[in-house]
Amino acid sequence: MPIQEPYILAIESSCDDTSAAVLQGLNVLSNAVANQKVHEAYGGVVPELASREHQKNIVPVVNHALKVANITPEQIDVVAYTAGPGLMGSLLVGSSYAKSFALARNLPLVAVNHMQAHILAHFLDPATNKHPSFPFLCLTVSGGHTQLVRVDSPFSFEVLGETQDDAAGEAFDKTAKMLGLPYPGGPLVDQLAGQGNPKAFAFAKPRVPGLGFSFSGLKTSVLYFLEEQMRANPQFIENNMPDLCASVQHQIVTILVEKLMLAVEQTGITEVAIAGGVSANSGLRAALNLTAERENWNLYLPPFAYCTDNAAMIGAVGFFRYLEGRTSALDTATRARYAL
Ligand code: KG4
Ligand code: ZN
Repeated sequence: MPIQEPYILAIESSCDDTSAAVLQGLNVLSNAVANQKVHEAYGGVVPELASREHQKNIVPVVNHALKVANITPEQIDVVAYTAGPGLMGSLLVGSSYAKSFALARNLPLVAVNHMQAHILAHFLDPATNKHPSFPFLCLTVSGGHTQLVRVDSPFSFEVLGETQDDAAGEAFDKTAKMLGLPYPGGPLVDQLAGQGNPKAFAFAKPRVPGLGFSFSGLKTSVLYFLEEQMRANPQFIENNMPDLCASVQHQIVTILVEKLMLAVEQTGITEVAIAGGVSANSGLRAALNLTAERENWNLYLPPFAYCTDNAAMIGAVGFFRYLEGRTSALDTATRARYAL
């Protein structure tokens, strides 16, 4: 009889989404996410409010995940949770819950690096999902990070390049804010860009050598452009919204694709993946599909549910580490900054 794969309870609370998932091995049985709406009024995540929302959400979200998976707490074999990077107050809610659960049931605990989890999300649901083979390159693009990573194993990550200032997600969110769109603006820009002309307006392109990124120049160039146009025509944004979104998106996507091409050229690795919230962007996905076909890459785009923050991806890291006995002590500290 085959050995039964472990049931994993995974918890994610690094930013503004409270998420819990139940996995059997790498198969996701449930993946519950409670989004926090309180931040919309502030145009960005307010850390103190995020912690309070996590505190309210964590118990019902875990209970919901267990119920959907049809698994009782007694059946759980391992607990995995996000130990960082992220907002300290938010991380503490998930880590305290996970540690209490593990302690009460005398279960092994796995502290997970959130950025590794975005990458290893590619290995979830192996029956329906094709995963990259090692070594592969991963462009991780989220609200807080933009990194080009060489992945040699589930435990070996080398950052080849990262952003010097804003992350790609921030570039989307900050320009969306200038356009008067609510937080988080990335998905809205994506949606509106679909009806616009990506070549309508040209914005600054950074000149960062090698595999580094920069998005602050683009942000400033959009700001100055909008200020100038609005002086001449106060309705400029309203009248040009889809073209503005398409042009901003086009520039961000171009920057990302060019760096990924350079990384492939420098490493000779043609197994290429993307991860993180911005990997849901339809412009980026379309551009990469074209590039992969032209350049003969094997391209891996994560399913939408595993792009933005979710606990299933935390469970993937939990599974790999548990298998190798890489579990964590109860006194493991949460870390606002946590290198790959
Ligand atoms: O990975 P994630 O959920 O959280 C972090 O770990 O940061 O990423 C959130 C980021 C936000 O900046 C959000 O605007 C962006 O991902 N995002 C998108 C799209 N969906 C989410 N940006 C562009 N297009 C999208 N479709
Ligand atoms: Zn994330």
